[in-house]
Amino acid sequence: MSMSTSQVTAAERAAAIARRVPPSFLWGAGTAAPQIEGGRRLDGRADSIWDTFAGRPGTVRGGETPSTADDHYRRWRSDVDLMGELGLQAYRFSLAWPRIVPAADGRVEPRGLDFYDRLVDALLARGIEPFVTLYHWDLPQWVQDRGGWPARDTAELFAEYAGHVAARLGDRVRHWTTLNEPWVFVFAGHLEGAHAPGLRDPDAAVRAMHHALLAHGQGVRVLREALPADARVGVALDMMPTMPATDRPEDVAAAARHDLYRNWLFCHPILRGAYREGTRELLGAEPPVVGDDLAVISAPVDFVGVNYYHRSVVVEDDAVPLSRARETAPPGTYTAMGWEVYPAGLEEILAQLHDRYAPRSIYVTENGSAWDDEAGPDGRVEDHDRTEYLAAHLESAAACVERGVSLDGYFAWSLLDNFEWAEGYGKRFGLVRVDYATQRRTIKRSGELYRAVLHASAAGRGA
Ligand code: FCB
Repeated sequence: MSMSTSQVTAAERAAAIARRVPPSFLWGAGTAAPQIEGGRRLDGRADSIWDTFAGRPGTVRGGETPSTADDHYRRWRSDVDLMGELGLQAYRFSLAWPRIVPAADGRVEPRGLDFYDRLVDALLARGIEPFVTLYHWDLPQWVQDRGGWPARDTAELFAEYAGHVAARLGDRVRHWTTLNEPWVFVFAGHLEGAHAPGLRDPDAAVRAMHHALLAHGQGVRVLREALPADARVGVALDMMPTMPATDRPEDVAAAARHDLYRNWLFCHPILRGAYREGTRELLGAEPPVVGDDLAVISAPVDFVGVNYYHRSVVVEDDAVPLSRARETAPPGTYTAMGWEVYPAGLEEILAQLHDRYAPRSIYVTENGSAWDDEAGPDGRVEDHDRTEYLAAHLESAAACVERGVSLDGYFAWSLLDNFEWAEGYGKRFGLVRVDYATQRRTIKRSGELYRAVLHASAAGRGA
């Protein structure tokens, strides 16, 4: 059977991408516990702030909740088979803190740890490298009830949780990420009210920011003590190259504020041990630093994970809290999230990170796009837009490597369609479609392109 022209083109494009990066470059895909696991009440799991938040009217589109999600908690075995089918070299997933430490007495729920133990073994048996994220936004509700991120104690509780997990999985998991996108869970959660816990409180947001940083630092410390010397520890930050919409000085200044707010607010203290210049003015408050907090926060990391989706083109707008910068929508192509498709931005932001901070290693820990997929009768999705987005961003990642950025791997977001936070299930990011009525999984065309890249890369490594 001969291949159609478009198939040949896709295969050639995939092979060309794989050739542009060294054989050691790691190709993976990611998910997060609250977005895929479901199993809200299984095996002693307690509620997270997302269960509580989604239970309140008007928070999540359509009143949807993460209670069942992709039912991955019960279907993990076949999901790992799917990863094998795609040829993933690495899988980034998060652990559910409320499964592992379900109550304020601090006891560890063995069934929660057992789940991840089995998952890690299944991944390793397939030669898939596990990348564990400790916190992807599902704070146990009991921690929230004790003050949540605005409370300093939460950093300590996080470090204890990190210790339990490292003791159990540290002999097999080599790559660890403390927090996922602290900007989002801090500011969308405590200032904008759009994410759990749904606060609109600038003071709480500033405290949450500092304590999230402290949790990261204390987490790194605990992981280093518990893990073998070759373990690699990092953090995943959301970043977006930022530019003014016009050359008016007000907009240029707004872009500088937005850039600090969205790109360097967390990165700078972690990599430099100080809040970046302008932080106090931006926040209108002093972060609640105590003693040697900044030394704890800046414990050396082995890699920085960058989650990239789109750029920001901004104008001054005094109505926007803190940054006083509003994102505009320049002409272009937009995803179902309303995010501009701007592949060059991946290279731009990684180059900025590399040039300014020179982290030892960088991974793209998330990148992907939501589209209004239409499934054929067989469940198949001809998602040309997502396929094009993926290919163009992989090319941008390859360009980073070629210009000398220390980029060591790329994780597509996401392996599966899943619970997209306040957007519910309507926004689909998966390389694999999930039919929520049947939980049937079907690899989309974009997943096939990715598989072709992974196969070409494996062939290049002589695998
Ligand atoms: C990021 C989140 C991830 C996913 C993508 C679309 O901000 O880290 O969980 O929802 O956006």
